Amino acid sequence: MNQESENKKKVVVSGIRSTGNLHLGNYFGALNKFVKLQDEYDCRYFIADLHALTTNPDPTQLHASVKDILAEYVAAGLDPEKNIIYVQSDIPEISELYLLMNMHVGIGELMRTASFKDKARKALGITSDSEEIEKEIIGNQTNNQRVNAGLLTYPTLMAVDILIHHADFVPVGKDQEQHLELTRRFARRFNSFYKTDYFGEPVNFNFGTAGALKVPGLDGSGKMGKSEGNCIYLIDDEKTLRKKVMRAVTDEGPKEPNQTPTQPVENLFTLMELVSEPEVVKHYRDSYADCSIRYGDMKKQLAEDMLKVTLPIRQRILDIKDNDEYLSKMVKNGAERAREHASKTLREVREIMGIRKI
Ligand code: ADP
Ligand code: TRP
Repeated sequence: MNQESENKKKVVVSGIRSTGNLHLGNYFGALNKFVKLQDEYDCRYFIADLHALTTNPDPTQLHASVKDILAEYVAAGLDPEKNIIYVQSDIPEISELYLLMNMHVGIGELMRTASFKDKARKALGITSDSEEIEKEIIGNQTNNQRVNAGLLTYPTLMAVDILIHHADFVPVGKDQEQHLELTRRFARRFNSFYKTDYFGEPVNFNFGTAGALKVPGLDGSGKMGKSEGNCIYLIDDEKTLRKKVMRAVTDEGPKEPNQTPTQPVENLFTLMELVSEPEVVKHYRDSYADCSIRYGDMKKQLAEDMLKVTLPIRQRILDIKDNDEYLSKMVKNGAERAREHASKTLREVREIMGIRKI
């Protein structure tokens, strides 16, 4: 591909925090989309290790997790030749732009962000509303480490990850849509403050499906997530995966024909829709509707179809994961390429903001 045609392609940017192995929520909500976009767009994918720091991980684990996810990116089909793959902390321009962008971000809007409220609530061990959170944060010195300023300014850093590349599209799951909305808001505010049209307004990429995807967990409740302990990991071996699926929460079975499935059962259908053939899903939907369904059979089928997705990826992860030379060459190259774009943006933003050499 020549330089000119590369320049014309729309830019896609996304990242995943290095907080542990990737699960099916990450795969269907994000990674799988990354892979589908790589042939048509100018894609830049990274590991958000600075974002991971907001929850104060163990340093050894953080480092291991960066490597794991890099291997998982490649194993899931991301081609380092087609994409820029890098580690966020290798791009110092991101940290500087984060400082500059924070001058245009309100403390109030950050405190109202759902992800901040959730994380603050969890850290503080409370279930209450915004006012209570504020009181606890401002009034109690012992909470300084747990609810740190990095956690509050998480959306600024994410906006910078995106805007530093002038991204057009940001493939992410549903839980990240508010952050994307904030990114657009910060871009607009910056533009209007400096009377410029410098930043565009990036949007999610949904492949024509209605809204962003939320992959449910196996515990009958909300989304699949690392901190919820309800995940199927790409690295899970056959036995582990089957066991997890067989233990998934269901109910006592449909009581009458054509009833709406309860949440835990609907979650299993949702998972099935992601990994199984349409006829298979239809078969189980029909057998739920006529009350003949046997959850054990459904789970066996679900596990089988999940394994078809995960096992080849798992094998590739195992092949790559300890190849330090390959991984480090890949990220070094990725960082060089990402920094070319990032340093240009930083230079221009400094100029716009009036930071100039005397
Ligand atoms: P986790 O929630 O497990 O900590 P991350 O926050 O690191 O995962 O998410 C990385 C990417 O995966 C994001 O784009 C996020 O939207 C997506 N993602 C995570 N969990 C899910 C899910 N259950 N359904 C859809 N997308 C998800
Ligand atoms: N906040 C995202 C998450 O938790 C990770 C992330 C950081 C990201 N920076 C980003 C995603 C930029 C897309 C674009 O999953």
